[in-house]
Amino acid sequence: MNVRTQRRIFKPLVFLISLSPFFWLAYAIFSDTTMGTQYLTTDPVQKLDRELGDWTLIFIILSLAVRPAADLLKRNEFINYRRMIGLFALFYAVLHVTSYQVFHLKLDVVAFFKDIAERPFITVGMIAFIALIPLGITSTKGMIRRLGKKWRKLHMLVYPIAILGVVHFYMMIRADFSRPYIYGAIILLLLGYRVWKNRQRNRPRPAAAAAA
Ligand code: HEM
Repeated sequence: MNVRTQRRIFKPLVFLISLSPFFWLAYAIFSDTTMGTQYLTTDPVQKLDRELGDWTLIFIILSLAVRPAADLLKRNEFINYRRMIGLFALFYAVLHVTSYQVFHLKLDVVAFFKDIAERPFITVGMIAFIALIPLGITSTKGMIRRLGKKWRKLHMLVYPIAILGVVHFYMMIRADFSRPYIYGAIILLLLGYRVWKNRQRNRPRPAAAAAA
């Protein structure tokens, strides 16, 4: 299968798979409100916000995992899907913040800013969210071309954003810290890989070293 056909098949597939948590949550809201099911438990507002927070972090981690997966499996074409996965992280982050603002705070803007100022886990989440926005905006092909090397540097921000996401999660819970620990360990592993890869890339090649 050539690269074009592969892209034509896999791009919509990755798109649909990435949207499946959204479809599931939309269905759960619909079913719980019209048919009396309890997919979103007895506290649907909290459950919805937590699910969306989880998916935000999962997509951030997935976007970080694309390069190592492409290298390890020698499938460079995986990189074609990284931008879409990164944009889905922003999509779920926007829904996470919106659901918090709409369902939890009932669109009370004053309460929103008060929360940002007074609840440290919200402050940390907000910093991560704001930092994610320029990454989304600069994800177009035109921006990638225009920013050149600066684009790579800017998009390295995704590592601190991922760490802030985990800190936000860790600060929010009172018991059972296993999930933030697992997310944190995965992010550190991916960061370690990135550092190692950059060192490899910047190491002088034997021929160049001999010529120097
Ligand atoms: C990139 C940014 C963010 C990431 C990665 C993120 C991720 C998460 C995660 C993983 C959780 C816990 C989910 C679980 O318990 O399974 C969570 C919960 C939560 N997040 Fe975020 N979050 C982000 C930004 C924000 C922002 C900006 C706000 C508010 C303005 C926010 C508000 C909340 C709230 C209120 C909860 C707890 C829900 C509850 O227990 O009622 N988050 N978030």
